[in-house]
Amino acid sequence: MTSPSSQETSNLPHSSTSGGFFANLFSRTQRYSPEEWKELLKSHPYVPPGSGDARSPCPLLNTFANHGISIPRNGRNFTKRQLYELLIIMGVKSMLASLVVTSVFVMYRQPAPNSTWRDSFRSASTLSLDSLGIHGLLEHDVSLTRHDAQIAPYDAVSVVPELVQQMATLAQTSHLNAENIVFDDENYFHHRKSRWLTCIKENPYLHYSFIQQFLSAAEAHLLLHLLGRNDQISLDHMNLFLLDERFPDNWHPIDRPLSGLSAIRTIIRYYRRVRQTNPMLAASKGTES
Ligand code: HEM
Repeated sequence: MTSPSSQETSNLPHSSTSGGFFANLFSRTQRYSPEEWKELLKSHPYVPPGSGDARSPCPLLNTFANHGISIPRNGRNFTKRQLYELLIIMGVKSMLASLVVTSVFVMYRQPAPNSTWRDSFRSASTLSLDSLGIHGLLEHDVSLTRHDAQIAPYDAVSVVPELVQQMATLAQTSHLNAENIVFDDENYFHHRKSRWLTCIKENPYLHYSFIQQFLSAAEAHLLLHLLGRNDQISLDHMNLFLLDERFPDNWHPIDRPLSGLSAIRTIIRYYRRVRQTNPMLAASKGTES
């Protein structure tokens, strides 16, 4: 069974244009001012997924699907153009958005057994959110909010509310007297380290090497700079994005596209900080093979 308006996607007028490397493929697309975004949300209310709807391990892509913006509500058969539109809305620059979309659509295409090696470089025509749950491509161990794929309950797609609660507790205990409680970069370092240690203990098939660590740092950057701002996200917003996979009413996408240089700097900092002197991880060095 799919949700009522599973085919609904965004269709608003374009407020500004964005070209790029694959400009002919992805031509015109829009970013929204805070006012336009508010209008968009009104016409695309949150509806939780129905039982047959596809969802991914990515809270943000699920959020878009839950509002029927860019991604159909049933999470199925979205196009390159729609994913590109989503990234532009989120403040990713057109060149990077094109690169990400093209890579993802090549990476997740399933070639037929008798296809040639050249077919491996062809793009899927559409993707569904559940295909992003395939372990070992973008989906990796030591996620902030999901179980590892190869340990019970063998589900790396559904959010684990207890893990989001752990993040909230970290934020609450480290900002005891603050008026607005936020989950910040220090809380992030702590949570990822603690997840890493747990996964070392629980997952005999753990694979968390440079690429996965770097991807994790990039996801944390997206969490604290695109969903949140300036290395932090308010507790309310974090819960809505990560638990309900819903856009907060008082949130809007960043005003200016993300600077690539500052993003890379932050990602490297996040990557390093999680690895830096960490007694818990150092104590489990014997796990290295
Ligand atoms: C700018 C937009 C995006 C934001 C803000 C975002 C946010 C996030 C966050 C915060 C996580 C970490 C979840 C966790 O560790 O529990 C995540 C994971 C993930 N994202 Fe996204 N994401 C974005 C774009 C994308 C795109 C374009 C794709 C691919 C089409 C994608 C695929 C994934 C996947 C597969 C994971 C799971 C990784 C894991 O196993 O932990 N995301 N995303």
